[in-house]
Amino acid sequence: MPTLVIEGSQWGDEGKGKITDYYAQIADVVVRSQGGNNAGHTITINNEKFALRSIPSGIFNPHIKNILASGMVINPKQMLEELHGLEARGITKYNLYISNRAHVVLPYHELLDGAYEKYKGDHKIGTTKRGIGPSYSDKANRIGIRMGTFIDEEDFKESLSETLKIKNAELKMLGLEELDLNTIFDEYKIYAKEIKRYVCDTSLLIEEEIERGSKILFEGAQGVMLCLDHGTYPYVTSSSPTGSAVPLNCGIAPSYINNILGICKSYTTRVGEGPFPTEIESDIASYIRERGHEYGTVTKRPRRVGWLDCVELNYARRVSGINYLSLMLLDVLTGLDEIKICYKYEIDGKEIDYMPATIKELNKVKPVYLSLKGWDEDISNVKSFDKLPENAKMYVRKIEELTKASVALISVGPDRSQTIKIKEIF
Ligand code: IMP
Repeated sequence: MPTLVIEGSQWGDEGKGKITDYYAQIADVVVRSQGGNNAGHTITINNEKFALRSIPSGIFNPHIKNILASGMVINPKQMLEELHGLEARGITKYNLYISNRAHVVLPYHELLDGAYEKYKGDHKIGTTKRGIGPSYSDKANRIGIRMGTFIDEEDFKESLSETLKIKNAELKMLGLEELDLNTIFDEYKIYAKEIKRYVCDTSLLIEEEIERGSKILFEGAQGVMLCLDHGTYPYVTSSSPTGSAVPLNCGIAPSYINNILGICKSYTTRVGEGPFPTEIESDIASYIRERGHEYGTVTKRPRRVGWLDCVELNYARRVSGINYLSLMLLDVLTGLDEIKICYKYEIDGKEIDYMPATIKELNKVKPVYLSLKGWDEDISNVKSFDKLPENAKMYVRKIEELTKASVALISVGPDRSQTIKIKEIF
């Protein structure tokens, strides 16, 4: 199968970086299609940890073409820092391509992100404050600056001067200082000069690669429940991380997508505010948080922890086209006597098996659990499904039954080698 989409099937942080890196070994092209440096992918190579934000996970392999597609919002300053950081650690041979239609994140976006959060008070979203929402708002409002404009000094200055009039009015209204056109321009034109060599029409490039029969990996950021359309709105990000959005975000035909692999933890986590039906706050939550190192890659916040929610996973499968699952961090559950799995919700005395649309309803739902027996055996070096303890196998089969998706991979540790392959999908 020449194309594979990797997407988060929960609230982000499912371990997409590891699986992207796993498949990147056999990929020719790795594409990031949406989001920006709100994402944080951690990849472990030979015991060395790398945290990526905007750069695709194929960057470590000099044969891979890494593409930042048109659906992304890119902070040039941060992206160059990330690139220089990789270079300082010996990653000097890479292929990078940036869409001329991707939007640029500028200093006022970050300031406005912080200001909106402050004004929302108790209703704040808990954003990463990287300016992602304000940047996508400008795109929808048709006052955003795209890469093609950014790398042309004259066009950039003209667009910036137009946009800044509106942005300064907004900053002033929110009680912040106005920004100076020349200060931003003088700093950012230097970044633009460096970035220019990477900018091209990536839609053309991806289609050429598909026609040539290259293996293409679409690397998702965030997760389905953070989707602007299908997530727990308004507690979501400002783009769509679903597999079904990949063609739009990359400028390619939907028929080019072969498989969509949903990455899910063996339990659930969430950072930021918003409903989380299976959240737990007991000692079990601390046990999982410590064993799973559940602290944010970008913001270092402790992640909220809960049992696996198969109502949510089944919903994610339906709205985003997932046909396979990769079950992550199964080893973290080792040592628990009982493992719970949510298969229905109860709301106002009624049982339902779908996700309600409103926050009011989502805040009311109570998870209905199945209880399964845990296992004590160390599974971190298990290499095949057959060798897993019986209770772990039963857990995996139950997830398949409840989500209607087959489990293609199981991850039992952070290293590439700690991955059990069940099905060939790429
Ligand atoms: P924003 O994307 O910074 O606007 O944040 C909106 C919401 O999405 C917040 O709840 C963030 O914590 C969450 N979010 C954004 N990116 C990620 C991610 O990569 N992993 C997990 N949560 C994320």
